[in-house]
Amino acid sequence: MQGLCIIAGSASTALANAVAGRLDVEPVRRTVERFPDGELHVELAESVRGKDVYLVQALSPPAEANLFELLLLADACRRSGAERLTAVVPYLGYARQDRRARGREAIGARVVADLIGTGGFARVVCLDLHAPALEGFFASPVDHLTAVPALADVLRATYRNDGVVVAPDVGAAKLADAYASLLVLPAAVVHKVRMSGERVAVRQLTGEVRDRRPILVDDMITTGGTIEAAVRALLDAGCRPEITVVATHGLLVGGAIERLSALPIERFVVTDSVAQPVALPRRFQVVPLAGLLADAIAHLNRGISLQSLAAHR
Ligand code: R5P
Repeated sequence: MQGLCIIAGSASTALANAVAGRLDVEPVRRTVERFPDGELHVELAESVRGKDVYLVQALSPPAEANLFELLLLADACRRSGAERLTAVVPYLGYARQDRRARGREAIGARVVADLIGTGGFARVVCLDLHAPALEGFFASPVDHLTAVPALADVLRATYRNDGVVVAPDVGAAKLADAYASLLVLPAAVVHKVRMSGERVAVRQLTGEVRDRRPILVDDMITTGGTIEAAVRALLDAGCRPEITVVATHGLLVGGAIERLSALPIERFVVTDSVAQPVALPRRFQVVPLAGLLADAIAHLNRGISLQSLAAHR
């Protein structure tokens, strides 16, 4: 590797360390601490002068603090003479605020992209963005990776022709098509209406699910409200009570784990794009991203195309 360095943000320490291990480099030692007044302070404990530096930091909750830490780390690298900086953001917070659904709203995703732009990054690497068009919010080049093939791989052995891939809302229909084509299964779509941050209702379901084993697919699970409503609609429509839920980003905020555990769901599959503060119950399977991110970083370091790792547009 040509002068390659990995720096772990504190939201992604385990993932960044695993990526560094795959690349056979030691993560750069750094300290991240809070002063007594609550201000964040970061410092690099070793030189990055002339290096190709990859800063790994998910913008998971608290997204604002994690974003600011990423920017402080970038600033420390630039001032220390790093040759090139790349932000590796396994989960992009605020991505759902990508348009004004009502009047007088802020577009949070655009603000986050602009702030990341102040970090002086040559590129930003993201994973399974809420909407592919978010790439256009950034002035710098974005490499949009996907974990969908890796997630589909862990399901393939379990499903034959009795499965159906289900999008829990219209926004996930293209994602469901991608899984359906990888798994050679039909697809169905639940049409949801969001009532509040935590509550959603289902208007209708299109596609045949009766007597089939559903695989519900989404980009993220936050409160679990979307999945809960979709599961109830699928059961009402006569699916087999053998449901799998797959999502790249397991935010699992508030009481999401308890809420989802109370449902007749056999298996949850998520990645480690978001670090879990507590061990997940046995029904949750976590697919590691270290291999995918290490491959992407190795390609970038050598100036090789990332086409084979990129998300569908
Ligand atoms: C929405 O469009 C997203 O793709 C997810 O369906 C949603 O954000 C999940 O949130 P929750 O788990 O809170 O319903």
